[in-house]
Amino acid sequence: MPRKRTAILISGRGSNMTALIEAARDRDYPAEIALVLSNRPDADGLQRAADAGIETAMVDHRTFGKDRLAFERALQDVLLQHRIEIVCLAGFMRILTAWFVAQWPERMLNIHPALLPAFKGLDTHRRAIEAGVTEHGATVHFVVPEMDSGPIIAQGRVPVHPDDTAAALAARVLALEHRIYPLALKLVASDRVHVTNGRCVITGAIGPEDAAYLPALAGPQ
Ligand code: GRF
Repeated sequence: MPRKRTAILISGRGSNMTALIEAARDRDYPAEIALVLSNRPDADGLQRAADAGIETAMVDHRTFGKDRLAFERALQDVLLQHRIEIVCLAGFMRILTAWFVAQWPERMLNIHPALLPAFKGLDTHRRAIEAGVTEHGATVHFVVPEMDSGPIIAQGRVPVHPDDTAAALAARVLALEHRIYPLALKLVASDRVHVTNGRCVITGAIGPEDAAYLPALAGPQ
Protein backbone atom coordinates (compact mmCIF):
# COMPACT_ATOMS: atom_id res chain seq x y z
CA MET A 1 0.00 0.00 0.00
CA PRO A 2 1.49 3.42 -0.89
CA ARG A 3 2.26 5.63 2.08
CA LYS A 4 -0.55 8.11 2.76
CA ARG A 5 0.41 11.71 2.08
CA THR A 6 -0.15 13.42 5.41
CA ALA A 7 -0.18 17.09 6.39
CA ILE A 8 0.41 18.30 9.94
CA LEU A 9 -1.29 21.57 10.89
CA ILE A 10 0.43 23.51 13.65
CA SER A 11 0.33 26.89 15.35
CA GLY A 12 3.25 26.63 17.77
CA ARG A 13 6.23 24.63 18.94
CA GLY A 14 5.33 21.41 17.14
CA SER A 15 6.57 18.71 19.49
CA ASN A 16 3.78 16.37 18.39
CA MET A 17 4.66 17.26 14.81
CA THR A 18 8.24 16.19 15.51
CA ALA A 19 7.03 12.89 16.99
CA LEU A 20 5.06 12.20 13.81
CA ILE A 21 7.98 13.17 11.58
CA GLU A 22 10.27 10.86 13.55
CA ALA A 23 7.83 7.95 13.29
CA ALA A 24 7.44 8.48 9.55
CA ARG A 25 11.22 8.23 9.01
CA ASP A 26 10.66 4.48 9.13
CA ARG A 27 10.01 3.38 5.54
CA ASP A 28 7.51 0.83 6.82
CA TYR A 29 5.42 3.51 8.50
CA PRO A 30 2.21 3.81 6.43
CA ALA A 31 2.12 7.64 6.37
CA GLU A 32 4.61 10.06 4.89
CA ILE A 33 4.70 13.61 6.18
CA ALA A 34 4.30 15.51 2.94
CA LEU A 35 3.59 18.95 4.42
CA VAL A 36 3.65 20.98 7.61
CA LEU A 37 1.20 23.87 7.43
CA SER A 38 1.04 26.68 9.97
CA ASN A 39 -1.43 29.52 10.44
CA ARG A 40 1.27 31.57 12.17
CA PRO A 41 4.49 32.76 10.50
CA ASP A 42 6.32 32.65 13.85
CA ALA A 43 5.42 29.05 14.78
CA ASP A 44 8.61 27.39 16.03
CA GLY A 45 7.53 24.13 14.45
CA LEU A 46 7.91 25.57 10.94
CA GLN A 47 11.66 25.87 11.32
CA ARG A 48 11.89 22.47 12.97
CA ALA A 49 10.01 20.92 10.08
CA ALA A 50 12.19 22.65 7.50
CA ASP A 51 15.30 21.46 9.37
CA ALA A 52 13.91 17.93 9.14
CA GLY A 53 13.63 18.32 5.37
CA ILE A 54 9.83 18.53 5.33
CA GLU A 55 8.00 20.87 2.98
CA THR A 56 6.32 23.72 4.84
CA ALA A 57 3.61 26.25 4.06
CA MET A 58 1.98 29.09 5.93
CA VAL A 59 -1.52 30.51 5.62
CA ASP A 60 -1.79 33.45 8.01
CA HIS A 61 -5.36 33.54 9.38
CA ARG A 62 -4.98 37.24 10.22
CA THR A 63 -4.93 38.25 6.56
CA PHE A 64 -8.51 36.95 6.26
CA GLY A 65 -9.93 39.05 9.10
CA LYS A 66 -13.18 37.54 10.33
CA ASP A 67 -13.73 35.56 7.13
CA ARG A 68 -13.14 32.09 8.55
CA LEU A 69 -14.37 30.35 5.42
CA ALA A 70 -11.93 32.24 3.18
CA PHE A 71 -9.09 31.21 5.51
CA GLU A 72 -10.19 27.59 5.38
CA ARG A 73 -10.58 27.65 1.59
CA ALA A 74 -6.97 28.83 1.41
CA LEU A 75 -5.91 26.00 3.74
CA GLN A 76 -7.84 23.51 1.65
CA ASP A 77 -6.25 24.79 -1.57
CA VAL A 78 -2.77 24.22 -0.14
CA LEU A 79 -3.73 20.73 1.06
CA LEU A 80 -5.14 19.81 -2.34
CA GLN A 81 -2.10 21.24 -4.16
CA HIS A 82 0.03 18.86 -2.11
CA ARG A 83 -2.31 15.91 -2.78
CA ILE A 84 -2.83 15.41 0.95
CA GLU A 85 -4.84 12.39 2.06
CA ILE A 86 -4.75 12.69 5.86
CA VAL A 87 -4.65 15.80 8.05
CA CYS A 88 -3.21 15.77 11.58
CA LEU A 89 -3.97 18.74 13.80
CA ALA A 90 -1.10 19.13 16.25
CA GLY A 91 -1.51 22.19 18.42
CA PHE A 92 -3.43 23.96 15.65
CA MET A 93 -5.18 26.76 17.49
CA ARG A 94 -8.01 27.65 15.12
CA ILE A 95 -11.56 26.42 15.44
CA LEU A 96 -12.60 24.79 12.18
CA THR A 97 -16.00 25.16 10.55
CA ALA A 98 -18.30 22.30 9.62
CA TRP A 99 -17.43 22.99 5.98
CA PHE A 100 -13.73 22.32 6.48
CA VAL A 101 -14.37 19.31 8.70
CA ALA A 102 -16.66 17.86 6.01
CA GLN A 103 -13.76 17.89 3.51
CA TRP A 104 -11.90 15.31 5.66
CA PRO A 105 -14.36 12.71 6.93
CA GLU A 106 -12.47 10.19 9.07
CA ARG A 107 -9.34 11.65 7.53
CA MET A 108 -8.59 14.43 10.02
CA LEU A 109 -7.10 13.66 13.44
CA ASN A 110 -6.59 15.85 16.48
CA ILE A 111 -4.71 15.36 19.72
CA HIS A 112 -6.12 16.79 22.92
CA PRO A 113 -4.27 16.81 26.25
CA ALA A 114 -7.00 15.27 28.41
CA LEU A 115 -9.02 12.11 28.83
CA LEU A 116 -11.89 13.09 26.54
CA PRO A 117 -14.74 13.61 26.99
CA ALA A 118 -13.38 15.21 30.18
CA PHE A 119 -11.72 18.63 30.03
CA LYS A 120 -12.43 19.81 26.52
CA GLY A 121 -10.97 23.21 25.67
CA LEU A 122 -7.89 24.98 26.97
CA ASP A 123 -5.81 24.83 30.15
CA THR A 124 -6.62 21.18 30.73
CA HIS A 125 -3.76 20.43 33.15
CA ARG A 126 -4.59 23.18 35.61
CA ARG A 127 -8.27 22.29 35.42
CA ALA A 128 -7.54 18.60 36.05
CA ILE A 129 -5.48 19.43 39.15
CA GLU A 130 -8.15 21.81 40.43
CA ALA A 131 -10.83 19.19 39.88
CA GLY A 132 -8.87 16.76 42.07
CA VAL A 133 -8.87 13.92 39.54
CA THR A 134 -6.36 11.13 40.12
CA GLU A 135 -5.83 10.38 36.43
CA HIS A 136 -5.35 12.61 33.41
CA GLY A 137 -4.12 11.87 29.92
CA ALA A 138 -4.30 12.49 26.22
CA THR A 139 -6.64 11.52 23.41
CA VAL A 140 -6.33 11.26 19.63
CA HIS A 141 -9.70 11.48 17.91
CA PHE A 142 -11.25 12.05 14.53
CA VAL A 143 -12.30 15.66 14.10
CA VAL A 144 -16.02 16.45 13.97
CA PRO A 145 -17.57 19.92 13.93
CA GLU A 146 -17.95 20.02 17.72
CA MET A 147 -14.60 20.96 19.30
CA ASP A 148 -12.60 18.22 21.08
CA SER A 149 -15.22 15.63 20.25
CA GLY A 150 -15.38 12.84 17.70
CA PRO A 151 -14.61 9.14 17.76
CA ILE A 152 -11.62 8.25 19.95
CA ILE A 153 -8.79 6.51 18.12
CA ALA A 154 -6.23 6.27 20.93
CA GLN A 155 -6.13 7.37 24.53
CA GLY A 156 -3.59 7.08 27.30
CA ARG A 157 -3.58 7.95 30.98
CA VAL A 158 -1.08 9.24 33.50
CA PRO A 159 -1.41 9.61 37.27
CA VAL A 160 -1.96 13.02 38.85
CA HIS A 161 0.29 13.38 41.90
CA PRO A 162 -0.85 15.29 44.99
CA ASP A 163 1.91 17.88 44.63
CA ASP A 164 1.65 18.24 40.85
CA THR A 165 2.01 21.57 39.14
CA ALA A 166 0.30 22.18 35.81
CA ALA A 167 3.74 22.25 34.17
CA ALA A 168 4.84 18.93 35.68
CA LEU A 169 1.57 17.30 34.68
CA ALA A 170 1.78 18.80 31.18
CA ALA A 171 5.25 17.30 30.69
CA ARG A 172 4.02 13.87 31.80
CA VAL A 173 1.07 14.10 29.40
CA LEU A 174 3.23 15.39 26.53
CA ALA A 175 5.48 12.31 26.63
CA LEU A 176 2.31 10.23 26.32
CA GLU A 177 1.06 12.38 23.44
CA HIS A 178 4.26 11.64 21.55
CA ARG A 179 3.57 7.92 22.02
CA ILE A 180 -0.10 7.79 21.04
CA TYR A 181 -0.21 10.22 18.10
CA PRO A 182 2.18 8.17 15.91
CA LEU A 183 0.24 5.04 16.91
CA ALA A 184 -3.11 6.57 15.92
CA LEU A 185 -1.79 7.88 12.59
CA LYS A 186 -0.23 4.51 11.82
CA LEU A 187 -3.58 2.77 12.28
CA VAL A 188 -5.57 5.35 10.29
CA ALA A 189 -3.03 5.42 7.46
CA SER A 190 -3.22 1.62 7.24
CA ASP A 191 -7.03 1.85 6.89
CA ARG A 192 -7.43 -0.11 10.10
CA VAL A 193 -9.75 2.33 11.86
CA HIS A 194 -13.46 2.34 11.06
CA VAL A 195 -16.20 4.27 12.77
CA THR A 196 -19.27 2.27 13.74
CA ASN A 197 -22.09 3.90 15.69
CA GLY A 198 -19.83 6.84 16.48
CA ARG A 199 -17.04 4.67 17.89
CA CYS A 200 -13.74 3.55 16.40
CA VAL A 201 -13.23 -0.12 15.68
CA ILE A 202 -9.69 -1.23 14.89
CA THR A 203 -9.08 -4.23 12.68
CA GLY A 204 -6.03 -6.47 12.55
CA ALA A 205 -3.57 -7.60 15.17
CA ILE A 206 -2.69 -5.24 17.98
CA GLY A 207 0.52 -5.74 19.94
CA PRO A 208 0.27 -5.80 23.74
CA GLU A 209 2.31 -2.59 24.01
CA ASP A 210 -0.26 -0.75 21.87
CA ALA A 211 -3.43 -2.34 23.25
CA ALA A 212 -3.39 -0.22 26.40
CA TYR A 213 -3.96 2.89 24.29
CA LEU A 214 -6.70 1.60 22.03
CA PRO A 215 -10.46 1.39 22.48
CA ALA A 216 -11.93 -1.70 24.08
CA LEU A 217 -13.83 -2.21 20.84
CA ALA A 218 -10.78 -3.48 18.95
CA GLY A 219 -12.03 -5.80 16.21
CA PRO A 220 -11.15 -9.42 15.41
CA GLN A 221 -7.47 -10.14 16.03
C1 GRF B 1 -0.39 19.60 22.83
O1 GRF B 1 -0.52 19.49 24.22
C2 GRF B 1 -1.62 19.13 22.13
O2 GRF B 1 -2.25 18.08 22.79
C3 GRF B 1 -2.49 20.34 22.15
O3 GRF B 1 -1.62 21.41 21.94
C4 GRF B 1 -0.31 21.06 22.39
C5 GRF B 1 0.59 21.25 21.22
O4 GRF B 1 1.95 21.03 21.57
N1 GRF B 1 -3.54 20.23 21.17
P1 GRF B 1 3.03 20.83 20.43
O5 GRF B 1 2.93 22.07 19.52
O6 GRF B 1 2.71 19.58 19.70
O7 GRF B 1 4.34 20.77 21.14
